[in-house]
Amino acid sequence: MAQKKVFLGEEFLPKQWYNLNADFPTPMPPPLNPATGQPPDDSFVEHMGNIFPMNLVEQEMTGERWVDIPEEVLGIYKIWRPSPLYRADGLEKMLDAPVKIYFKNEGVSPPGSHKPNTAVPQAYYNKVFGINRITTETGAGQWGSALSFACQLFDIECHVYMVKVSFQQKPYRRLMMMTWGADCVASPTDTTEAGRKVLAENPDSPGSLGIAISEAVEMALARDDTRYSLGSVLNHVMLHQTVIGQEAKLQMDALGEYPDVVIGCAGGGSNFAGLAFPFIADKIAGKEVQVIAAEPTSCPTMTKGPYAYDFGDNNHMTPLLPMHTLGHNFVPAPIHAGGLRYHGMAPMVSHAVTQGLVEPQAFDQIATFNAGVSFARTEGFIPAPETNHAIAAVIAAAEQAKQEGKEKTILFNWSGHGLVDLAAYDAFLSGNLTRYELPQEEIERALEAIKDLPKIG
Ligand SMILES: Cc1ncc(COP(=O)(O)O)c(C=O)c1O
Repeated sequence: MAQKKVFLGEEFLPKQWYNLNADFPTPMPPPLNPATGQPPDDSFVEHMGNIFPMNLVEQEMTGERWVDIPEEVLGIYKIWRPSPLYRADGLEKMLDAPVKIYFKNEGVSPPGSHKPNTAVPQAYYNKVFGINRITTETGAGQWGSALSFACQLFDIECHVYMVKVSFQQKPYRRLMMMTWGADCVASPTDTTEAGRKVLAENPDSPGSLGIAISEAVEMALARDDTRYSLGSVLNHVMLHQTVIGQEAKLQMDALGEYPDVVIGCAGGGSNFAGLAFPFIADKIAGKEVQVIAAEPTSCPTMTKGPYAYDFGDNNHMTPLLPMHTLGHNFVPAPIHAGGLRYHGMAPMVSHAVTQGLVEPQAFDQIATFNAGVSFARTEGFIPAPETNHAIAAVIAAAEQAKQEGKEKTILFNWSGHGLVDLAAYDAFLSGNLTRYELPQEEIERALEAIKDLPKIG
């Protein structure tokens, strides 16, 4: 009988984060100062230091390959890390394809996803820098709850702007945030200039991550004792998540395995990067491994969006980032995978795509819920709607292996559980979910917003 799971002892918890920026064959283009259209200068770094604590700004720009994980962070990681690696032999049996499937279970953290891997160090670096109040946005509520949990452990006030459509779909996430001592409001609000601007144009706006980010950044800039925290997209977030892939390598190694295919779902790119980047380092060094990032057809950032400079938010408050984007004004359809409704993609993940290191694939929400339900019925665990995209990609890879008659070992990131997302399963099981493919005209309309911005290269 196959070994079902691999637990690692606490002594195997990685002591450093891995930075893929040290190993890209071609360096990433720099972010640009929107005021000058130029790479970061002193005034730009100062501006960033008003949004984030300076120690995280420095980490954002580091070219070091390995960054030490502070002892205080390791101490908290130990609550749930190292996370277990499972063999999905039940799913394998159902698929009847020549594949072995493994998954890293990031749903075992207190908030139920990979998000605290970065929430904890971000809260820590803010505290060390003397910050006692943090603002943030949240889509599905996973990030907001992870940051609320982390802030509570470091005695920091946490204020969360939650995308309105998710706020309405997911009342229990808000209650988790409140239980961890945070406050959570539905965005757009009428308490910020950014929110008022959106509401004036569309009082029924379902909100978007871009709008919620603008509100949270505006509130952080309004007070000296406050900084903003982002749960994905930025380099330091990708960095913090690499504990996932480093542990997975040790666990696969313990089984005498190395994956042919590595898969993660991608909203802003962080859980995907966390699992994939340590394997991409091997790929750059010559190892053969296929790396797939799965996104929704309703928000096809990598599969349909150009690689271009764009703002990370709706109201032009962030630097211009080189990334795959659908345009910063893009408001995705209210699909249930709230964490994948973001107009852009992490610059590091986008760069890896343009370098041919990562293959993006898009899946419709009906296909993803079918995949998630199959997973729950064969493996027991109920996945988050975002995670279902990774599972849909796993099933597609297994079907391809079957057609090609090739044996494959697939590793994917099970980014979170769906126990607070059962309303989404209700919609699916009662036949109320719709297919949604973003029409080309809508993409072109959204991309109007970036046509006058500086171009990459
Ligand atoms: C469970 C889960 N998976 C994936 C994501 C997508 O984010 P990222 O691409 O940064 O991992 C989210 C975001 O909220 C999430 O909650």
